Amino acid sequence: METTTISSNGESEVKDEIQGLIASLPSEKNWDGSPLYFYQGVWYPVFAIRGALSFQQHFIAQDTDIILASMPKSGTTWLKALTFSVVNRNIYSPKESPLLATPPHELVRFFEIDLYSKKQLPDLIQLPSPRICSCHSHYETLPQSIRDSGCKIVYICRNPLDQLVSYFHFSRKFKRENVKPLSSIEEGFDNVCLGIQSYGPFWDTVLGYWKASLERPDKVLFLKYEDLKEDIISNLKKIAEFLGIPFTDKEEKEGVIEEISRLCSLDSLRNLEVNKNGVRPSGLPNSSFFRKGEVGDWTNYLSPFMAENYLKIVEEKLGGSGLTFRTSQ
Ligand code: A3P
Repeated sequence: METTTISSNGESEVKDEIQGLIASLPSEKNWDGSPLYFYQGVWYPVFAIRGALSFQQHFIAQDTDIILASMPKSGTTWLKALTFSVVNRNIYSPKESPLLATPPHELVRFFEIDLYSKKQLPDLIQLPSPRICSCHSHYETLPQSIRDSGCKIVYICRNPLDQLVSYFHFSRKFKRENVKPLSSIEEGFDNVCLGIQSYGPFWDTVLGYWKASLERPDKVLFLKYEDLKEDIISNLKKIAEFLGIPFTDKEEKEGVIEEISRLCSLDSLRNLEVNKNGVRPSGLPNSSFFRKGEVGDWTNYLSPFMAENYLKIVEEKLGGSGLTFRTSQ
């Protein structure tokens, strides 16, 4: 479907038909009270749908690109910091890392809610090589060139209970005019059980990347937040090897991996001035990306009945895939 036109200055303008398309889509309420739209099997938040369509239609991947993919609130910020540090370790030592003065989301930018939402055809030439960018799109909806090129995808997932609780807290930081956020987890819970949440259904997005990682292990690396929490060192090695830049014996002896893990830890990042005080262009405080970072925090917010119900649904949907989650430490 053609949804854009190119204006005389080369910038793509959204035609009324995108507006028309959005208006015709099934819609539900997101946790923050704003609409979610269902398109091609995905529930997009209102602020992401235009960017997601544009990204899907226009992005041309290069073989050297690194795409970080995730469901929101699954450890995206952490993965950005880690991957940026691994890739650029020969340019910046942890003591002079740009992470010390720049939020991870600025160093590794989102396609749908940043690059392609600001401009229909963003100028990606300015991004340093190798380009590291991130998305919440499902594997099946990625631009064809990502799937066809030699670029690499690192996916991070998190157990659905902690992901849900994390999103609930995050959504309360959004302040939108004329929109009333849901007041409790219970209020949005039935929808979540139907797969209705930002970039959901949960099971579809994780399954897409899970299957891709089994079919194309050289193309898609599938990580779990809980595994990183348990053993960050071996997961950092896994990331570096997957990207074709394994740590050398010398680096291991010199403690480079430990230094990166310390720099990117929750405590280190959240205590940096830039992450304590800064605000994202969307108006969200940088601090909202750093909360507890625990495995099993859901027990403080979901009743055993809710947790059991939701897990049962997710397990049924993932049935036979071999994908499992750890929900406690
Ligand atoms: P909680 O809300 O459970 O604390 P995302 O980055 O995908 O938005 O996910 C945010 C979640 O990851 C939050 O979880 C946040 O605290 C946690 N997080 C952010 N940075 C982290 C880090 N460096 N290490 C571990 N967890 C981190």
